[in-house]
Amino acid sequence: MAVTQLLSCALLVIAVGAAAGFQEGLRGHQIWELPSSIPAALEDLLRDGLLDSLSHSKSHRKVHVPVEGLDNARRILKERDVEFKVLVDDLAEHFQGERRRRREVDTRAAESCTENSCPAPLSNAYMTFTQMEYYLREINTTYAPRVSVKSIGKSVEGRDIWMVHVRSGGCAQGKSVYLECGIHPREWIAPAVCLQIVSRLAVHCSVTRAFNVYIVPMANPDGYVYTWTTNRLWRKNRGNAGGQCVGVDLNRNWGFKFGVGASSNPCSEVYMGPSAFSEPETQALRDVMTSLSEAGNLELVIAVHSYGQMLLYPWGWTTEEAPDTPEMAALGEIFANTAHLRHNTVYTVTSSSSGLYFASGATDDWAKGVLNTKFVYTLELRDTGEFGFKLEKSQILPTTQEVWEGFKAMLLAITGQKYTLL
Ligand SMILES: *[C@@H]1O[C@H](CO)[C@@H](O)[C@H](O)[C@H]1NC(C)=O
Ligand SMILES: [Zn+2]
Repeated sequence: MAVTQLLSCALLVIAVGAAAGFQEGLRGHQIWELPSSIPAALEDLLRDGLLDSLSHSKSHRKVHVPVEGLDNARRILKERDVEFKVLVDDLAEHFQGERRRRREVDTRAAESCTENSCPAPLSNAYMTFTQMEYYLREINTTYAPRVSVKSIGKSVEGRDIWMVHVRSGGCAQGKSVYLECGIHPREWIAPAVCLQIVSRLAVHCSVTRAFNVYIVPMANPDGYVYTWTTNRLWRKNRGNAGGQCVGVDLNRNWGFKFGVGASSNPCSEVYMGPSAFSEPETQALRDVMTSLSEAGNLELVIAVHSYGQMLLYPWGWTTEEAPDTPEMAALGEIFANTAHLRHNTVYTVTSSSSGLYFASGATDDWAKGVLNTKFVYTLELRDTGEFGFKLEKSQILPTTQEVWEGFKAMLLAITGQKYTLL
């Protein structure tokens, strides 16, 4: 009896200790809401890392304010007479409380995914990186040789960056389509939807009849693991190129117009890194995209992000028109119109630079500017700001369903076939 009590007491101490560390990287960080029209000078604040914009969308101005920047940000907004509302005053507390509540409410068994059996990506929960790896290993066996999974490189901390290849059914000269997901780790819905798409492509052979589809479901595994343990709002990788602050924004690190709309401050959430392609993750992604492009038929690139419900095409670095803009806009509308049919979700189709601020060094501009890929997009998934990065897991399936329909419609439009919704 005494031993049992001692033991449960020890376990309790361990459990409390773990809870105290959970999301501790966000201690004192806040979420603010800014007015819908803020002075242009605030763009500098965003870029210099005092504020971390949570969305591309123009009408929603929720920002994450790191604890180190609180005083400065408050002072600068006050000087400019900008009113703001504090939505969350301690993010660590916020996420810890949420986890406690979730444990109380959510006792239903989740779909199972273990090392020995993970036949489908979870649709009722966000997956850990380890669970993603279980699933990828399993489909590599179950659907071989149509589906194969290989590592295209390692992250800073030595995790694999996996790429799934779903082969075209028969047409040897099928066009190639490439999806990059999870380069910003806090956008959990992106890898969740991409893995769902992998599982659908694996079984719906007709969709890929004329296409080889390549999907990197988790482009930034270190950052993703970090969002699970320490800082749910982490956006960068875990490299320490900048010395005093950790991480490079991998979506500012690509070598096309490097540095035009990014920060050279290592503490900024949009830190571009010391040089283009300074990070092993962007090097791996660049090399695989280059080889797909050199094979001669890379037709469509989609970088999947959240949130904002937008389908953005280049350029991000300038408001000038990119090549193939009419075609990209038209195909984008096909995506948006078809996706809308499923759950009435509105995806806005526009160029990246007409979003909140200029951004350079992103996957999409590089694919357009260097590889010359015809159809290039950044897809911002649900929602428009209510839940933001903390999109409820109940939205994994509906988001997947609409994106799946939109994606199929794009593929069929590229092959020139008329699309009918089944
Ligand atoms: C996928 O299967 C191939 C062939 O069996 C194997 O060589 C490779 O290591 C597997 N990849 C993964 C990620 O398990
Ligand atoms: Zn993003």
